[in-house]
Amino acid sequence: MATGLEGKVAVVTGGSRGIGRAIAEELARKGCDCLLAARTESHLIAAGRQIADSSGRRVETVALDLRTAEGCSALHAALQDTFRRLDILINNAGATRGGDFLKQADGEWEDGFALKFYACLRLSRLFWQELSRRRGCIVNIIGGFARTPDPNFLIGGAVNAAMANFSKGLSARGKRDGVRVNAVYPGLTETDRVQELFENRARVLGLDAAEVRAMAIRKHGLRRLGAPEDVAKLTAFLCSPDADHIQGTAIAIDGGATADLH
Ligand SMILES: NC(=O)c1ccc[n+]([C@@H]2O[C@H](COP(=O)([O-])OP(=O)(O)OC[C@H]3O[C@@H](n4cnc5c(N)ncnc54)[C@H](OP(=O)(O)O)[C@@H]3O)[C@@H](O)[C@H]2O)c1
Repeated sequence: MATGLEGKVAVVTGGSRGIGRAIAEELARKGCDCLLAARTESHLIAAGRQIADSSGRRVETVALDLRTAEGCSALHAALQDTFRRLDILINNAGATRGGDFLKQADGEWEDGFALKFYACLRLSRLFWQELSRRRGCIVNIIGGFARTPDPNFLIGGAVNAAMANFSKGLSARGKRDGVRVNAVYPGLTETDRVQELFENRARVLGLDAAEVRAMAIRKHGLRRLGAPEDVAKLTAFLCSPDADHIQGTAIAIDGGATADLH
């Protein structure tokens, strides 16, 4: 069945693991060629191979650090060296740290903003004209703390809130330039990062990670935690022609964990 995504080219940041990898997999399954970016080359190569084999699409990878302007420019250059066109930009890479506000030094805040906020803005700027030419789209993977702050995740909350504001503002520019810009708010989604979070919390509480995981489900009355594939399917929909009239929207995919209206 036609998906409307056949032959499109997507850049997925943080495409080697977790949510980004699942998004790349879903986009490739629907007919996109993909360029994946992350730091660890071995993870990228493994992900790229597996996605190319299962989808039959072309998948390229580039290892770089998106916390720097140079890293973002290198991703732009990698696209010129490979596909030389872009229809879809997925700003997904992010790794903000939780912790006690009084113990988190400036460096942790700077790191959080450098990767998740600055890479999103730099890549949007670098790829904007090409996306405009192709009538393309951007999907920003944000996170629930943008709207529901938590004292133990102040960096993630502030970074995500900045990204949400940026996405909405950029979508207004996108109306003029022909680029659709939307955002997704995943709830707790089972990736390596979240497993690590459960293990760290378990150590602090003197429990095991499975108990902490069960507590997280109970806390919000969820049926289950999110899977990377949940976020991937929504993201691929937002990139598809079926979402042609969706612009400047942010959608939570969290099993109902967000209690308020917005
Ligand atoms: N999982 C959740 O519960 C959840 C909830 C809400 C929002 N989110 C958001 O969803 C996004 C993905 O989360 P995830 O759980 O899938 O994370 P993950 O499993 O830790 O994967 C993160 C990806 O980003 C890459 N990355 C990390 N630092 C990088 C850097 N400096 N430069 C380039 N790439 C980098 C990682 O590869 P390397 O380490 O090799 O660079 C990896 O590919 C994040 O923005 C996160 O804030 C996640």
